[in-house]
Amino acid sequence: MIELNCKYADSAVIGEENGLNIQQKFNEFKDTIANIISDLNKRKDKPGQWLQWMNLGYSEETVWYVKEYAALVENRFDNILVLGIGGSALGGLAVTEALLKPYWNLLSKEQRNNYPRIFFLDNIDADSITGLLEILDLKKTLVNVITKSGSTAETMSQFMIIKDKLERELGDDYRKNIVATTDKNVGVLKQIAEQEGYKTFIIPDDVGGRFSVFSAVGLLPFALVGIDIDEIINGIKDMDLALKNTDINENIAAQNALIHFLMDTQKGKKISVMMPYSSRLKYVADWYVQLWAESLGKEKNLNGETVHVGPTPVKAVGATDQHSQIQLYNEGPNDKIINFIRVKKFDNDLEIPKIFEYTGIGYLGGKTLNDLMNAEADATRVALSDYNKPTVTITLPEINGYYVGQLLYMFEVQTAIAGALYNIDAFNQPGVEQAKNYTYALMGRVGYEESAHALHEKMAANGVYSV
Ligand code: PA5
Repeated sequence: MIELNCKYADSAVIGEENGLNIQQKFNEFKDTIANIISDLNKRKDKPGQWLQWMNLGYSEETVWYVKEYAALVENRFDNILVLGIGGSALGGLAVTEALLKPYWNLLSKEQRNNYPRIFFLDNIDADSITGLLEILDLKKTLVNVITKSGSTAETMSQFMIIKDKLERELGDDYRKNIVATTDKNVGVLKQIAEQEGYKTFIIPDDVGGRFSVFSAVGLLPFALVGIDIDEIINGIKDMDLALKNTDINENIAAQNALIHFLMDTQKGKKISVMMPYSSRLKYVADWYVQLWAESLGKEKNLNGETVHVGPTPVKAVGATDQHSQIQLYNEGPNDKIINFIRVKKFDNDLEIPKIFEYTGIGYLGGKTLNDLMNAEADATRVALSDYNKPTVTITLPEINGYYVGQLLYMFEVQTAIAGALYNIDAFNQPGVEQAKNYTYALMGRVGYEESAHALHEKMAANGVYSV
């Protein structure tokens, strides 16, 4: 199992002012945490609670349908093109980057074991989309359009451009190159998929975008590029079992949630940095940033009071960001808690040759890059503690589907527990919806005329104009 080490957030190591007496806090919050965990497990099957993500590890039907479709289209496509944004893209990016061979899209077909390349379009930047379309042979591309709401302007505009191009290039056959992942009832994409006859996968009810990585949203693209989804599912299930334990001393998601909550509310650590010491896990940090920000940043609490809570998540990658952000983390304001992710055993290692022995870099000779990577993680952790800066370290035995499944699921449960501690709804996103609605209004969507009028007036008054 993955492990959590919280010693460097303890007052015994970094002092009373910035550290927590962790065991004392675990004892103090023992009952609160036990209640939160049993409550989550009690409510998870109830409609409207947005906790169905806790059941995704047990959805044998989805796994079966995903595998069946992946087998059906095997060897038919050279490329998978995923269209989606936010929760409909970040999980896919995080897991494929972690589990596929590095530089996957640059490998030959044989090096990819005949599996396709994979591209995620998670923005509406015309330059990058044009560039991608110039290199993709659409005839050999399977387009997976993913949107829970079925109407997100970014995803649907990408889709309209690509569907139009596909149809012009392939004629009537274009439908075979599209697979939709969306809600089973609502949304424009659902209607279009039905009318046009696209293969469709369902995002189950009560699974929000940022908690959807283990639904067909993620599992389908993973299976299409040959990732062993059973291994991921096993990781989720084992972690789920471990996190059902209501004893905080045995539950790492509860421990990290409580530490983050108390660091924010009692020690002024309003920033949560996610810093994996592995390039392959860099998008896990992006995924965490969305999960933590969108879930916990809320104006109102569950009693309807205005609270404006939410720690600010920040992405960093070790060792790269030691040469950009660590100066600030060490010597700047003591307002952060840093999560290190450390990998015990990397798939590869490279020995640094014993050359330049009699120079200042001679000491590196004979060591390996993994020695160096982990030494840097340890050194940075200790250096931060010298400055009384709190850190926690999550250790993955290695990077594979089993442990990546565990890691992401652990963060999801941690987020749900943190939401309960902040007493907010971790599963809505009114702030995102607000901006989405304003965009619809500015782009002339029917039904948003009043909003559009008000917006134009506000923008004109402030000297800002849109289209
Ligand atoms: O977590 C969320 O709910 C959001 O980030 C959504 O995933 C994002 O806004 C995309 O929404 P949709 O999947 O409806 O297109």
